[in-house]
Amino acid sequence: MDWGMQNRLNRIIKPADGRTVMLAVDHGYFLGPTRKLEDPGATIRPLLSQADALMLTRGVLRTSVDPAADTPIVLRVSGGTSVVGPTLADECLTVSFEDAIRLNVAAVALSIFVGTEYEQQTLRRLTELVDEGETYGIPVLAVTAVGKELEKRDARYLSLCCRIAAELGAHFVKTYYCDDFEKVTAGCPVPVVIAGGPKLETEMDALQLAHDAIAQGAAGVDMGRNIWQSDYPVPMIRAVREVVHNNALPAEAHELFLELKTAVDNGKDI
Ligand code: R5P
Repeated sequence: MDWGMQNRLNRIIKPADGRTVMLAVDHGYFLGPTRKLEDPGATIRPLLSQADALMLTRGVLRTSVDPAADTPIVLRVSGGTSVVGPTLADECLTVSFEDAIRLNVAAVALSIFVGTEYEQQTLRRLTELVDEGETYGIPVLAVTAVGKELEKRDARYLSLCCRIAAELGAHFVKTYYCDDFEKVTAGCPVPVVIAGGPKLETEMDALQLAHDAIAQGAAGVDMGRNIWQSDYPVPMIRAVREVVHNNALPAEAHELFLELKTAVDNGKDI
């Protein structure tokens, strides 16, 4: 792998342990002002120093993130559909590669919609993006999107999507956790990170999800709602980091979460 490509990937997936805690705040590109992401700058600011990378759109990057920040940026470059439209799958590219370079991104991300009528269109865009990424040394993250069809999230489907993304040249892949997740990671020759999905009932549930994904071969998480929709987002991302980078068991990480939550309640800096 070329030096620039490897360097950018190493900024996201830490070479010390091959793991990453990415913070996803790109939801507004199809969901609008999602709960607790209404003011993206306010959501991002306290979490930024705890994230190994930030996944977002160029609009939120330019309006809501201090350019002095040194957190690597994974820029979403696909979109063009909305939750009230006929389908989420009919995405196009929404950013030129030149603008991604101008924004000094560490990687670009696009969604693929395998098995939909837009399969070929989104996969072709992936290959075009990989060609540009190889030219400029910028890694491509393929997101195996399911749109509104959350029930699609099983090992057979997700391992198909992840493998296709890797075969077409994606440098890392984002998918969902599922039963038999080790089949998904075993069949994918590039690093796999997981989305958190909709907010789970408790913080412990989300820590268990992160733990199980790591134990079955994930390189980390690209988590959004289960962090910033928590009433205690900074304690939550710190607890997720314990699982991902320090191999903490869910109960150990939850203990840390509770300690930090108490500190926050008592007005202490954490
Ligand atoms: C997926 O492509 C979305 O854009 C989000 O980035 C993703 O779902 C991760 O966020 P969450 O953990 O909230 O599912």
